[in-house]
Amino acid sequence: MQINGFSKLSKKDKIDWLLQHYLSDSNEARQILEQYWHTDKALQELHDGFIENSISNFYLPYGIAPNFVIDKKIYAVPMVTEESSVVAAAAKSAKFWSNKGGFKTEIAGTIKVGHIHFTYTGATSELIVFFRNIRRDLLDAVAHLQQNMQQRGGGIKDVNLIDKTTELPDYYQIEFKFDTVDAMGANFINSILEEAADYLNVKAEKMLSGQWQTVMSILSNYTPESLVRASVSCPLEQLQTPRLSGYEYAQKFLTAVAIAEKEPYRAVTHNKGIMNGVDAVVIATGNDFRAVEAGVHAYASKNGKYSSLSHARIENDQLIFWLDLPLAVGTVGGLTRLHPLVKFSLQLLQKPSARQLMRIVASVGLAQNFAAINSLITSGIQKGHMKMHLNNLLNLIEANPEERRRAKAYFSDKKVVFSELKKLLGRD
Ligand code: MEV
Repeated sequence: MQINGFSKLSKKDKIDWLLQHYLSDSNEARQILEQYWHTDKALQELHDGFIENSISNFYLPYGIAPNFVIDKKIYAVPMVTEESSVVAAAAKSAKFWSNKGGFKTEIAGTIKVGHIHFTYTGATSELIVFFRNIRRDLLDAVAHLQQNMQQRGGGIKDVNLIDKTTELPDYYQIEFKFDTVDAMGANFINSILEEAADYLNVKAEKMLSGQWQTVMSILSNYTPESLVRASVSCPLEQLQTPRLSGYEYAQKFLTAVAIAEKEPYRAVTHNKGIMNGVDAVVIATGNDFRAVEAGVHAYASKNGKYSSLSHARIENDQLIFWLDLPLAVGTVGGLTRLHPLVKFSLQLLQKPSARQLMRIVASVGLAQNFAAINSLITSGIQKGHMKMHLNNLLNLIEANPEERRRAKAYFSDKKVVFSELKKLLGRD
């Protein structure tokens, strides 16, 4: 069913139209949508304002992983996720490392990049001279857009012409490098790029003999120069399990990581586990998880083959385990000013700078990865997963407290199988 002007309808009319055309039981459907409306009208309007055509709210659980010792500070980390085992795994891992020195982090840089992608039909040498002559004026032309950012210690850090003609005929870039301090900086970067492109279009027309066409001006979500490392380490004997000596455990752990380094099929799942933690914190702090995801996976392929983001080695009878993550996150601007829960998250994290948030996010990613590998090389993943999943299944069949108790006792030493659960509770 097609419609013109859907966005101009009131929320009620949008819902009426949808129910009429797409849903058979419109009373039930309306109830589902309305039961998620916030009773506080102002708050509901705030949420409706985030996007176009909002008709309800989609809740995700907001959980806490306490006991995160990161660079000697203790955090209770907010995590937003729908996956049942994620917060539990992060919390378990945080506790495990809390008395082993915790997570240590280093920031290798906070530079973000953006490009004016353009084609030029004339000689490259002419373009090089043009850019050399105009570079200073170009920076002056966009100076007014970066005054505030400069006052905060950021701004444009570099601008260069890049010849890409070996990859695509006539294709060049003007590449800007930025430090956006505590802002994610997407609007700042894109505004500068578009203004710079306008300036260059005019100058190119007047000064160049060939044809310049600006194709697009946009920041890159690939941020290998905005990079954080989180690491943990402990003596091997502290890794002993009932079945494995500390050394055996560490060897198996190293092999598991090496498999993820070599084998893309495993690397994708390994990194997905890391992103379980990363995304949960990124969302809780109002950051753009799609940007982070895209950048992280590009980084995982930086050597031409998709590989593990984390690495491990044994040195002086210690297991050293670390994760490198490109991250562009912000703690000011965007949703951080608007969403009450995002504000709460940032307060809970003691109002971190963007750099501190990078450290926290990377530590949670590493914690999540450790928890996953630990389960995989010892008990297997299903035990912990299914324990959490059992709750979801019990909710699905609306089990009463007595049935929940029986199911939990029954599955305490078995894999959870839905058909078996239903049989146990007589719900076949
Ligand atoms: C599940 O969401 C994530 C894991 O598959 C990650 C991994 O295998 O490392 C457990």
